Amino acid sequence: MTLDQMYQEEIMDRYRNPSNKGVIEKADIYVKEYNSFCGDLIEMYLKLNPDGKISGVKFNGNGCAISQAAADMLADEIKGKSLGYAGSIDEGKMKEMLGIPLGPIRIKCALLALKALKIGVQRYIVKK
Ligand code: FES
Repeated sequence: MTLDQMYQEEIMDRYRNPSNKGVIEKADIYVKEYNSFCGDLIEMYLKLNPDGKISGVKFNGNGCAISQAAADMLADEIKGKSLGYAGSIDEGKMKEMLGIPLGPIRIKCALLALKALKIGVQRYIVKK
């Protein structure tokens, strides 16, 4: 199996059996974001500890395998971390996590959850 196939398998596995799909009631951060190209949707829910660490993260939504797997990976990546870390994740890191080549259309799918996360972190910081 090639490396690309391994990453593809992980993407399909997360798409079929995401570990972080769901909602958080009374989330500290909630963002709903659409991919303007296809209308697919991601909602991100974050719960924070008093010390600002992310104690809970869930995503919900519907879309292609890449968008949903990316959201699930992102949730794992930021769980237990600081809000600052979550806000610092960039496109390069997201691409690295997915590990497959992404063309101009698929990159929008890959970055949908990250876009939602960044909006949420930004709004929360501004409100504080
Ligand atoms: Fe809609 Fe990927 S095709 S997010």
